[in-house]
Amino acid sequence: MMSLKGRDIISIRDLKKEEIELILDSAEKMEPYARGEKFLKLMEGKILGTLFFEPSTRTRLSFTAAMQRLGGQVMGFSGTGITSMAKGENLTDTIRTVERYCDIIVIRHPLEGSARLAAEISSKPVINAGDGANQHPTQTLLDLYTIRKVKGKIKGLNVALLGDLKYARTMRSLACALAMFGAELTLISPRGLEMAPDILSEIENRYGKKPYQTNDIDAGLRKADVIYICRIQKERFEDKYEAERMQKAFRITPEILSQCKDEVAILHPLPKVTEIDPRVDEMKAAKYFDQTFYGVPVRMALLALISGVM
Ligand code: CP
Repeated sequence: MMSLKGRDIISIRDLKKEEIELILDSAEKMEPYARGEKFLKLMEGKILGTLFFEPSTRTRLSFTAAMQRLGGQVMGFSGTGITSMAKGENLTDTIRTVERYCDIIVIRHPLEGSARLAAEISSKPVINAGDGANQHPTQTLLDLYTIRKVKGKIKGLNVALLGDLKYARTMRSLACALAMFGAELTLISPRGLEMAPDILSEIENRYGKKPYQTNDIDAGLRKADVIYICRIQKERFEDKYEAERMQKAFRITPEILSQCKDEVAILHPLPKVTEIDPRVDEMKAAKYFDQTFYGVPVRMALLALISGVM
């Protein structure tokens, strides 16, 4: 019997395809509870610790909503200014302390590998909510869930990943997962922000897929069933002007969408800045606010499975 009880979720690579399918199927069952139409006490008496060393709106609040919808409680911090890290305490001692107060830890930290380190230190399960430019596995789970909801399947779809494919951790996690589920990948980025060679090799060697790569936004989008766009990760650039220049060139507009398939769906992990024309928000193709909701049932399913209550 497949079980995720007690597991750390640090990279999407930590999960087999069947385990991802279990999470997505369980998330379907969570939807009425996530919407507040039904009530659950599955995690009554349990505490989730949310340690956010980097800004977040969706990930932190949807984990909070997920735990509360499951009947559990949440404690944590956002920013280190009011914690003892401001006095020089290190991450190791912070984790050793927090693991004694809660049952599952969710961590977002700017350093790649920090979530893995936290998992090695903690005896309680650790979920990576984003470590630098590395991985954001729960975003990938909700992205897969959204595609399945919107399109009814993942296999065989042409999914265009558009934007900063070098620094956006959501893109690295998602590209591997989409290949695992049999999607055809088109990778569209400004020059210099292409997907890292290690991810491309993994997609080819492990899943037998060779993504189509281009710097031409128009050509790349024409066959897409799903457009997954992310912002240029300006905070990871030394030259902020260069980041802004690239962002202006990689923008989705109604004019560009008029060249795409009628039923194309647009996803975005959010936050968005200027990479989507505001007129697109009102179009039927825009699915990114539905996507933010799906973070709740997916994270409910994950927390319940890791706790062994589901
Ligand atoms: N998608 C995502 O990670 O959003 P936040 O940065 O707001 O958590």
